[in-house]
Amino acid sequence: MSSKWNSTIGKKFIMGLSGLLLIGYLIIHLAANLMIFIPDGGRSLNLYSHTLHKLGPVLLVARIILAALFIGHIVNGIWVTVVNRRARSSRYAMYASKGGPSKMSVASRWMAVTGIILMVFVPLHVNMFTLGPYYETVIDGEPMRDIYRLVVERFKEPATVVFYAAVMLFLLLHLAHGFWSALQSLGALNKRLLPVAYTTGLVLATLLAAGFFVLPIYTYFFIPLP
Ligand code: HEM
Repeated sequence: MSSKWNSTIGKKFIMGLSGLLLIGYLIIHLAANLMIFIPDGGRSLNLYSHTLHKLGPVLLVARIILAALFIGHIVNGIWVTVVNRRARSSRYAMYASKGGPSKMSVASRWMAVTGIILMVFVPLHVNMFTLGPYYETVIDGEPMRDIYRLVVERFKEPATVVFYAAVMLFLLLHLAHGFWSALQSLGALNKRLLPVAYTTGLVLATLLAAGFFVLPIYTYFFIPLP
């Protein structure tokens, strides 16, 4: 059955939409994680995390949606990359003398490489934190998970800090191209809006990646283990 969603345009639409929603998640995730910088021994971050966990089934649904967006983004990304590559190689077969790859094909190849790195990073990250050891703390008489302690403990390991800092450079590349490319796939851009979207993507990607980049490094050097 060939429907709109099975076409390249449909797949790109799903990729664009899921990509923008994932960027939305990252903005919230970074904002929450910046609480690590508050010098209150983890009180704010732990209370925030506890409030989320108290949502119970609502949090579960949110996590299922997040996982679906992530998997949907990857599956469609692989599909579009493979189809583009096949189309390109048959074009190359016809016009073999046309010279090197175009700017667009270099960018999309980078999207695949940086996407694969993030695809590996996210499960490792979730395994480290969400599924990591359960330290407990008591705040205002209420027992809760001490997620702050886990984060600080992990970011005292030099190898983890270097790994995170390196991945954030790839996140920067992925988001810088991904943002405007997503809007393009959603049909939201014209010639006038393209440079605006391009600059917005670059600024957004830089802010997000810089935030996630600085966090482990700052923790390593300046935040004491609780
Ligand atoms: C370096 C900075 C980062 C820190 C300190 C951090 C911290 C955390 C923590 C503490 C959790 C567990 C939340 C919980 O169990 O309630 C978590 C989960 C998660 N993080 Fe991060 N994160 C960082 C960067 C990232 C990046 C760059 C991505 C994506 C590219 C990401 C994606 C996720 C996802 C998908 C989850 C699972 C969601 C959940 O548990 O509900 N994080 N992160």
